[in-house]
Amino acid sequence: MSEPSIRIALPADEEELALLDRAAWSALHSVQPAPRPPYPPFFDERHLPQDYLVAVLDRRVVGYIRLVRVSALPAHAHVRQIQGLVVSDEARGKGVGRALVRAAIEEARGRGARRLTLRVLGHNTPARALYESEGFVVEGVLPEEFLLEGKYVDDVVMGRFL
Ligand SMILES: CC(C)(COP(=O)(O)OP(=O)(O)OC[C@H]1O[C@@H](n2cnc3c(N)ncnc32)[C@H](O)[C@@H]1OP(=O)(O)O)[C@@H](O)C(=O)NCCC(=O)NCCS
Repeated sequence: MSEPSIRIALPADEEELALLDRAAWSALHSVQPAPRPPYPPFFDERHLPQDYLVAVLDRRVVGYIRLVRVSALPAHAHVRQIQGLVVSDEARGKGVGRALVRAAIEEARGRGARRLTLRVLGHNTPARALYESEGFVVEGVLPEEFLLEGKYVDDVVMGRFL
């Protein structure tokens, strides 16, 4: 399999990203209810194309990572947060997720950040292993923060310096 190419999302990626996101939904990573029609737009005023890096393989969008500022406060400008990482079921286990995380680290550095943080559900073993292997450490745990499919699940805060 070839390497994915990573680029900033374009408005024209919206349909592919929306389909990918809905198909990948699971309580392993999402605290939203399972998607049902009518579906909201993928992009809106808080979810802009330039906030997303997409992975393209054989001309298809197979994954994305969303990289944003945590707040608009000048005092918070040195921190970026990963708020969303998804790889399509068919493309998993082939290095796409790792390529997206590495690209987000580079992008955050390029935007002048010195810290990169994220939140991951305690039961999301694949994502936690990926983040740990890319230098993120657990910086806090909100115990039983979500009730998902009848089970209480921790919210784990992870971060790393850039
Ligand atoms: C987490 C996710 C993005 C990983 O994407 P991927 O393209 O399959 O990941 P990669 O192939 O780059 O694997 C990178 C590392 O992730 C970890 N990993 C991936 N799949 C795993 C699995 N099923 N079990 C345990 N660890 C796993 C491993 O550490 C792996 O490194 P290795 O191949 O050297 O063992 C993907 O599984 C996904 O989209 N999951 C649903 C959404 C999600 O959980 N997002 C994170 C929200 S915080």
